[in-house]
Amino acid sequence: MFEDFLEKKLLGIENSGLLRTLRKAQDIPTSKIKINNKNLINFSSNNYLDLAGSKDIAKASENIIEKYGFTATSSRLISGNFAIHEELEAQLANFKEKEAALVFPSGYQTNVGIISALMSNEKESCIIMDKLNHASLWDGAKLSGSRIFIYKHCDMNSLEKVFKRTREYKLKLVVTESVFSMDGDFTPLKDFVELCKKYGAVSMVDEAHSSGVFGKEGKGLANMFGVEDKIDIVIGTLSKAFAAQGGFVCSSRKFIDFLINKSRAFIYTTAVSPAICAVALKSLEIVKNSCYRRQHLHAMSKLLKNKLTELGFDTSNTQSQIIPIVTGSTENTEKIFSHLFEKGIYIPAIKPPTVPKNQARIRISITSGHTFHDIEQLCSNLKYFK
Ligand SMILES: Cc1ncc(COP(=O)(O)O)c(C=O)c1O
Repeated sequence: MFEDFLEKKLLGIENSGLLRTLRKAQDIPTSKIKINNKNLINFSSNNYLDLAGSKDIAKASENIIEKYGFTATSSRLISGNFAIHEELEAQLANFKEKEAALVFPSGYQTNVGIISALMSNEKESCIIMDKLNHASLWDGAKLSGSRIFIYKHCDMNSLEKVFKRTREYKLKLVVTESVFSMDGDFTPLKDFVELCKKYGAVSMVDEAHSSGVFGKEGKGLANMFGVEDKIDIVIGTLSKAFAAQGGFVCSSRKFIDFLINKSRAFIYTTAVSPAICAVALKSLEIVKNSCYRRQHLHAMSKLLKNKLTELGFDTSNTQSQIIPIVTGSTENTEKIFSHLFEKGIYIPAIKPPTVPKNQARIRISITSGHTFHDIEQLCSNLKYFK
């Protein structure tokens, strides 16, 4: 009976063209990847600074594993809190120019754990969300039970309209991403923080795709726009440009203390491995000094965007290393994926529910490991679809 139920569900997904399956990477996924014994140029990873596979980063865990083993053995509040957790948090807070930080096992868990801890179904509080926020932000918002209001993607007029409708709520949490994960565009952060201040709202900005990539020393987009000090809650992940694992939040000391007491996603989970903290610390040091990598990343992103525009592709409003080509139907996206795969290029199709209906796309992700030749190869194979 259970098996029949599952089979029916899976068939339904398959019939709508949305079945997801796992592909095996056979070596370190850098700007190249090996799948099905085929060597491909990889435009699919979040390894923006090309630090995946860095021996320096990996080696950083060796001494720590010798000293503490791999597992933290329990949650931070029981016996899994090591000096290296606090060292990493102090460095991350410093990086984001905030009073304090807290590390979670993943970026997903960070977002779910923060929003659901802070917000509830109390009548006087509400969450205001950009329509295209990441699933982890939505899941946190839904789990909280709070009333949710939505504004149009990156549209500050729409946000102001929502503010005018929500004047009676005493606690308003406004949530956005700085660089959007599927569109590569920016929240206009200066206007965003001004509006949040004007209407007395708490601001939360997820910098998963901008940390390490934008701003001085890769501090993020808020740093680039000079508004770090005006954002109440800043999120980052260690699993993208940092090539490590885990998520983090930077904010006031009081908010971090609140999370230590109230965030179930922090309290009821085994602490991040001390070895991962060591890796993240090394990676943070490298990221700060990766000026050349950032310059090359931005140059390659700009080059590709210009070439695609010349070819007549619409790359939406991207301003970053994430460059989408929205094809609409999942069939079209799959066709492009298969053609590129055949030609030695890997860019998986992104389908609903990751993106809205009729917004299927290929999401090209540039890293500092890409070369002019890689970009040329991609463009000459994409030409076929114009
Ligand atoms: C905007 C955003 N926030 C959070 C996450 C989750 O981060 P992690 O992969 O560390 O769980 C992602 C990952 O895709 C993301 O795109």
